[in-house]
Amino acid sequence: MSEKKNITIVGTGYVGLTTAVMLANAGYKVFTLDIDQKKIDVVKTGKSYFYEPSLDIFVEKAIKSGNLIPTTSYKEAIPSTDIVLSCVGTPDREDGSSNLDYIFAAAESVVTNTKKDLIYVQKSTVPVGTGKSLLKFMKGKNAKVTMHYVSNPEFLAESTAVFDTLFFDRLVVGADNEEARKIVVNIFKDLDSYAKGLEDQHFGDYIGTYKNFSKKDLFSKTFEEKVISTNIESAELIKVTANAFLALKISFANSIAKLADVSGANISQVMDGVGSDIRIGRSFLYAGLGWGGGCFPKDVHGLIHTAKEHGVELSIMNKAVDVNNSMVPYTFNKLKKLKLDKKSDFVTVLGLSFKAGTSDVRKSQSIKLANYIREKGYKVVAYDPHAMEEAKELLNKQITLKQTIEEAIDGTSCVILATEWKEFINFNWEINSKLFKKKNIIDARNKLNQSQLTKQGFVYCGIGQDKSS
Ligand code: UGA
Repeated sequence: MSEKKNITIVGTGYVGLTTAVMLANAGYKVFTLDIDQKKIDVVKTGKSYFYEPSLDIFVEKAIKSGNLIPTTSYKEAIPSTDIVLSCVGTPDREDGSSNLDYIFAAAESVVTNTKKDLIYVQKSTVPVGTGKSLLKFMKGKNAKVTMHYVSNPEFLAESTAVFDTLFFDRLVVGADNEEARKIVVNIFKDLDSYAKGLEDQHFGDYIGTYKNFSKKDLFSKTFEEKVISTNIESAELIKVTANAFLALKISFANSIAKLADVSGANISQVMDGVGSDIRIGRSFLYAGLGWGGGCFPKDVHGLIHTAKEHGVELSIMNKAVDVNNSMVPYTFNKLKKLKLDKKSDFVTVLGLSFKAGTSDVRKSQSIKLANYIREKGYKVVAYDPHAMEEAKELLNKQITLKQTIEEAIDGTSCVILATEWKEFINFNWEINSKLFKKKNIIDARNKLNQSQLTKQGFVYCGIGQDKSS
């Protein structure tokens, strides 16, 4: 235990906090640093400041063990640190390029506070080429210490962050120094051993139900088989390409959904059939409102922008963006066909976060849809089980927020399932149908039971199954 390197995680967000907490629980001394005092104050109490299933269990354990030290001070953290994991945000600019100000500011704060040799690990998603210029920048700021740079992109998804961090399917390590690569790989080997030793009850309903596979499947690959060693540029490009490809898959499914809508096919059945080809795979072929969140929109635009800078036209990704942008008006058209009375009827939008299982509302298609409907003159009521506070700032002020599903649907003329929270999927629509003024449901995530709802007298529309019932 005493040989373990000291780690500082810079940026205590979804990636930073989850990684910091797990490494602390695996026995490392970890400073988790953020410039936002409010976030750090919450973490100090043994809790996360955002909603992420099961994370609080691990935050509490890490704080109690004394291994996790939340701080806003580089001066406190860096002097005793051997390895820095950079997990700061890389928001997009108006023109689609990545704003790397935080990346460079964090690196500068680190190198100006260190007197030790350092391994700087980049977990944030950055455009290809960033690592090389960042290392040059850091060396320019502090020539007295030896610095190595490792690109180790993160693949965790919000809502399954705990699971993804512990049971990562691959470890991409881009480095130009073999010793530094080995040190980083060994840290994650320790994390892998920690995960293997955990009992199932630590994960709530993750294993077996949430992801539909058992713990045994998770360990079918050895740790060594998970390690993908590359140079820095390839590691950087792997990360954005993976996100872009997943976004492309969704947009492809949504394009076919439009054809299914007019042809009598059912998109869910089509994609079950297509996705069972192991070369294709079923995941990320779920048609619906489209992709949002803090990653896909920014990474897709970032990739298009970087390619352009290198003289490469990624028109396929421009098309994926167009399809995604079309999904809100496309869903709205289904509402329009119901011919509601804008004066006396109101519409209920259920779900505001960008996907279920998170309170994150960044680039949420559900919020875009709610605002779009309101802008078209309809009265809108909305509800989300975890993201109401976060959504308030982004929602049109004329949208009314309610505190429960029942309140939100009481008197409604159309419910739109915008974010697929379990609470909505398991809701007893039949018993609560008496609350509806007009029994219309638009299932913008294709998660409700079409035939059952139709039998119960609802007018049901999904995405890509309009004529299939
Ligand atoms: C995504 C990637 O899945 C992670 O691997 C990656 O590490 C992360 O970005 C990141 O770069 O940090 P995340 O943004 O948390 O994770 O969410 P996803 O589960 O990928 O969902 C993205 C969007 O696609 C959501 O709006 C979701 O509703 C939508 N989606 C997803 C669909 O519309 N259909 C699908 O079949 C799957």
